[in-house]
Amino acid sequence: MNKPKYKLGVIGLGEGRSIISAAMQSERWDLVNVCDINEEMCKLRKDEFGFQRYTLNYMDLLNDPEIDVIAIYTPDQLHGRHIQMALEAGKHVIVTKPMLHSLEEASGLLQVWKSSGKHVFVGQSSRFFEPMIHQRNDFLAGYHGEVDTVETSYISDSRWFLQKDWSRQRGFSWLYNFMIHAVDLAKWYLPEIEEVFGYGHSSNTNKEYGLTAPDSMRFVMKDKEGRIAQVSGSYTKPSLQHIEPGISCTLRGTKGTSRAVYSNLLYHTHFPPEQPVTHTFEEKFPYYFRFEGTSHHAGEYQNYIEYFTDCLEHGETPKPDLMEGIHTLSILTAMERSMESGTPVKVNDVLSEFCLEL
Ligand SMILES: NC(=O)c1ccc[n+]([C@@H]2O[C@H](COP(=O)([O-])OP(=O)(O)OC[C@H]3O[C@@H](n4cnc5c(N)ncnc54)[C@H](O)[C@@H]3O)[C@@H](O)[C@H]2O)c1
Repeated sequence: MNKPKYKLGVIGLGEGRSIISAAMQSERWDLVNVCDINEEMCKLRKDEFGFQRYTLNYMDLLNDPEIDVIAIYTPDQLHGRHIQMALEAGKHVIVTKPMLHSLEEASGLLQVWKSSGKHVFVGQSSRFFEPMIHQRNDFLAGYHGEVDTVETSYISDSRWFLQKDWSRQRGFSWLYNFMIHAVDLAKWYLPEIEEVFGYGHSSNTNKEYGLTAPDSMRFVMKDKEGRIAQVSGSYTKPSLQHIEPGISCTLRGTKGTSRAVYSNLLYHTHFPPEQPVTHTFEEKFPYYFRFEGTSHHAGEYQNYIEYFTDCLEHGETPKPDLMEGIHTLSILTAMERSMESGTPVKVNDVLSEFCLEL
């Protein structure tokens, strides 16, 4: 028997391109309509994917009874408003990272979400990349034993991103937009991070673009059991592309160690008695990177929309959900506070400051 199809509307057609591609290649999704305030962008995607219609008005997606899930890929500063409007229109939400650009909107959104009865799934895409999927499976299978140290990083030369107007406006920061990938991976393995400490520096390059929030950051984090994570990010320096892992996640456990990396889709393991092994998934490159270059990675979106439907069918909550998204944002806010104060900051203090009970 054919499984039911989910009906999707997409707002924001830059990175939204990836979920359009994913929905159109999925047996489980129908793309109903797309929206962008820039008509040139709408026409570009219409020609690229050959769909029939588009709208410049978000309300057209929200008022369309055929659509049951809204996918949001607008600039970070607009996510809160667009999520709220979708929930109030009775739609499930898939929202790209960061779910919000500040915790200030979190309390109000939490209330709207609680009364909506709808799912909010945060597209933390790195969880859905091939090496990270294998690492997670090995972790859940117990190959690492007890993991007490996690090292994650996202190091890239992303000055190209600053061509986007909204990246130079209030509400954008490298921490929330880029480093969140590394923070989310650390949190995935140490869900109860309770304290963070780190330094950040804003380079002259960064300042030339008018940005004050740091573009290089180094952190240590501690969970309730005393397990530690080390999280690194740098975004405006020339990078050693041929050896740089991009996003990476290393788990060190009592029985074994592994590292999943972005570049070349590599996964390194050492689970004794075997010697260290490098697993390559390079054959999956065309699946993950469907367009020019590697700045879009549609395969991750394919994996997460299929995961989303699986969860709904089994009556499960697709994760990370809104609550987990808020917890991640509270870690980011604690990181900001630590960089400002030069002292360790407790995540619970941030949650209290914003009157958030998770
Ligand atoms: N790996 C990932 O998960 C990943 C990768 C890249 C970008 N993103 C996220 O996607 C979001 C968009 O980033 P991007 O690189 O596509 O930016 P972008 O500027 O290229 O695209 C944003 C689009 O949103 C449109 N837009 C702006 N305001 C709108 C409104 N009110 N209504 C409808 N459309 C509107 C713009 O016209 C533009 O086409 C960001 O939040 C970013 O963090 C996620």
